[in-house]
Amino acid sequence: MLETAAALISPPLPGTWPRFESPLRLGVMASGNGSNLEAIARSIQRDELHAEIRVVIYNNPGAGVAERAARLGLPAVLLNHRHYPSREALDSDIVHRLQAHGVDWVIMAGWMRCVTTVLIDAFAGQILNIHPSLLPSFPGLRAVEQALAAGVRVAGCTVHQVELAVDSGPVIMQAAVSVEPTDTAATLQARIQVQEHRIYPAAIALAAELT
Ligand code: GRF
Repeated sequence: MLETAAALISPPLPGTWPRFESPLRLGVMASGNGSNLEAIARSIQRDELHAEIRVVIYNNPGAGVAERAARLGLPAVLLNHRHYPSREALDSDIVHRLQAHGVDWVIMAGWMRCVTTVLIDAFAGQILNIHPSLLPSFPGLRAVEQALAAGVRVAGCTVHQVELAVDSGPVIMQAAVSVEPTDTAATLQARIQVQEHRIYPAAIALAAELT
């Protein structure tokens, strides 16, 4: 049956999750809704991902992620990029806040700003991002729309290490979903997000295990 295709191309994740000497100390950066933040927090609550979220940094006043962070009991800091003279100045403040909270893994979860070497050098190899396509296909904005326009039969999401070029860097984990003829950007995006929530916590554990 074709409806099993998504399960076939996204097999179950391993049931065992690594334990670390101490919980991974995560700092989450987000600009919007925050559903990936919540998925990571719930995975920690279920004692799957051995981590703690030290701080949430967001850049858009009124972003849904702020309400989610409050509901989850997580400290959240608004750093509004509009109030900084340059990307480097914003990143410098972000680094300062992350370090002040003892963060060792930076988790971009819908962070919609380009980052600079100021952030990348401060957390070398320890910054992850999630993107709603099977990279290297469809980097950049409106990835789901790009995939639909290209007529692909398989779409998905990618967790990768962050490098300077947008949506580049070594891939940690991907999940695929089949594209249905009736899909709109909204329906496909919704199915991709289910997979995002599934793989991001696992990818954080895997990245830390590999380091
Ligand atoms: C996700 O689709 C992610 O792939 C992209 O931004 C979106 C964030 O969603 N980078 P949410 O804010 O976590 O709900």
